[in-house]
Amino acid sequence: MKTSLKDKKAEDLIILGIESSCDDTSAAVFRGKKLLSNVTASQKVHKAYGGVVPELASRAHEENIVPVVNEAIVQAGIEFSDLDAIAFTRGPGLVGSLLIGINYAKGLSLALGIPLVDVNHLNAHVLANFIEDEEESHQAPEFPFLCLLVSGGNSQIILVHSDQEMEIIGQTIDDAAGEAFDKCAKVMGLGYPGGPVVNRLANEGNPEAFAFARPNVADYNYSFSGLKTSFLYTLRDHLKENPQFIEENKEDLCASLQKAVIDILMKKLLKAIKDLGIKRIALAGGVSANTGLRQAFEDYQRRYKWDIFIPKFAYTTDNAAMVAVTGYFNLLAGKFIELDAIPFTKIKTK
Ligand code: KG4
Repeated sequence: MKTSLKDKKAEDLIILGIESSCDDTSAAVFRGKKLLSNVTASQKVHKAYGGVVPELASRAHEENIVPVVNEAIVQAGIEFSDLDAIAFTRGPGLVGSLLIGINYAKGLSLALGIPLVDVNHLNAHVLANFIEDEEESHQAPEFPFLCLLVSGGNSQIILVHSDQEMEIIGQTIDDAAGEAFDKCAKVMGLGYPGGPVVNRLANEGNPEAFAFARPNVADYNYSFSGLKTSFLYTLRDHLKENPQFIEENKEDLCASLQKAVIDILMKKLLKAIKDLGIKRIALAGGVSANTGLRQAFEDYQRRYKWDIFIPKFAYTTDNAAMVAVTGYFNLLAGKFIELDAIPFTKIKTK
């Protein structure tokens, strides 16, 4: 094991992050909290199936992991021997996908004699707000803050006490926000993933054209299945009268769908903010790329005097930069992991 770790200042630690939880193979190198490189290979193979096919995802990770890590090392301008630790996503995610990243990380840790640090993928989305890169000055939120985490698999409101303590105070009881976008896009024949296409078409449409159902669930929890059903029924009823209905109305359908998702997300977030009296609000996860949601955050910032924190687009979808920065925090907290670590596939709250 490298003995130099203890002698090094935190800001000089060089960490490799590896992300392989779903369909993106990604590697990033950090010096302290400063990003040196972030390389991602996104898998196109799933498009034809309208969703991620786990076995195909594992095979693509297997092909991508070595070139992606090599490229991250080259772009960072370092040698493998400069690394002080390796952080990897341990879960939640697809087990076959996770295993590729985990086993690569273990092999490299053994070969280089450096420590391994495991990372919870959801915590990493939240801590993406702490990535510092070369391009612009960065302001990270002070603790505690609230984070709206919205992705393809999760919709949560998280009370972030510290980089090591995150409390999920609300979450979806059925579908996630990204899933609602993807499934509604699929029935309109817009391809996969549908979120970005819905977003693009929504910019051309009228958000008031259709009124889709808003759920009524307790506390700070979310539900998107009623919205999805209401969307499906609207299509079904109109298609009976007009087979061209989707084609003729797709912009308005997307704009109204996007407005419904944003209204649902913001209503509960606003409730949490009022109840807890915390006005530092961060956004995280793939759906935070949505321009309507970003706009809503900015409008609420002005109206309610929030301090808002939104990561750069590249750090919102799955990426290793967020894994490496989370690994940095875990490393400082002394959270190393042994070589017998196995992946976890379901949500852990801590
Ligand atoms: O965090 P993420 O990359 O990974 C998973 O959770 O898998 O999130 C992916 C999700 C997908 O559902 C995708 O449709 C959605 O984020 N998404 C968007 C946008 N960009 C990505 N949803 C709405 N608008 C966008 N611009």
